Amino acid sequence: MKWDDLDRLVSFINVIVEEKRRDSSSGLYAGFDEKVTREEEAEWLSQTLVEIERGEVINAIAELSGKVIANGEVTRGKYKDTRRHGHMGLTTISEYRGQGIGRRIIETLVRESRGAGLRTLEVEFLAANETARRAYEKAGFNQAGIIPHKIFRSGKYFDGLIMSRELC
Ligand SMILES: CC(C)(COP(=O)(O)OP(=O)(O)OC[C@H]1O[C@@H](n2cnc3c(N)ncnc32)[C@H](O)[C@@H]1OP(=O)(O)O)[C@@H](O)C(=O)NCCC(=O)NCCS
Repeated sequence: MKWDDLDRLVSFINVIVEEKRRDSSSGLYAGFDEKVTREEEAEWLSQTLVEIERGEVINAIAELSGKVIANGEVTRGKYKDTRRHGHMGLTTISEYRGQGIGRRIIETLVRESRGAGLRTLEVEFLAANETARRAYEKAGFNQAGIIPHKIFRSGKYFDGLIMSRELC
């Protein structure tokens, strides 16, 4: 990600917000409740670019014809004793899902995380999200646990699933 991506990232995040608003059965996890303004995205991007520069965040985006279609990142643990652990997050725009883009981003982030000295990675998503489960299993992640009823959406509870892997 770079500063020039700002407008493409505003479009990307708001397509995701739209999906969650429109489709309560969407596989999207927590977050993404409100439309994001250009100013808010600019603030987020400048902060994230600093974190990338400092090695706190590892990021990978996928672009097609100048449009951002997927965005993934790994955030390092903040404390001295969690520095070697990373939390991963990833979203592909719905019309491009199931085409191998997510898996390529996961592979890239795993490789970069290893190179940055991380030892473990963790990711959390809706337990019913088979695409995510498959993508992470293929990248060497195993189920670490389930958080029953973590998500409350449209009057129903959904389980959260945590997967993790070691990098050595
Ligand atoms: C999870 C997500 C990031 C995966 O990205 P993607 O670009 O769709 O991933 P891929 O195309 O690489 O698909 C991953 C695997 O799932 C498979 N798959 C696709 N749709 C599937 C379905 N409905 N059921 C089961 N597997 C499915 C793909 O075929 C692929 O496996 P393969 O390599 O054996 O063919 C994407 O679906 C997404 O953005 N979901 C919403 C956000 C989210 O839940 N993120 C969770 C991670 S933080």
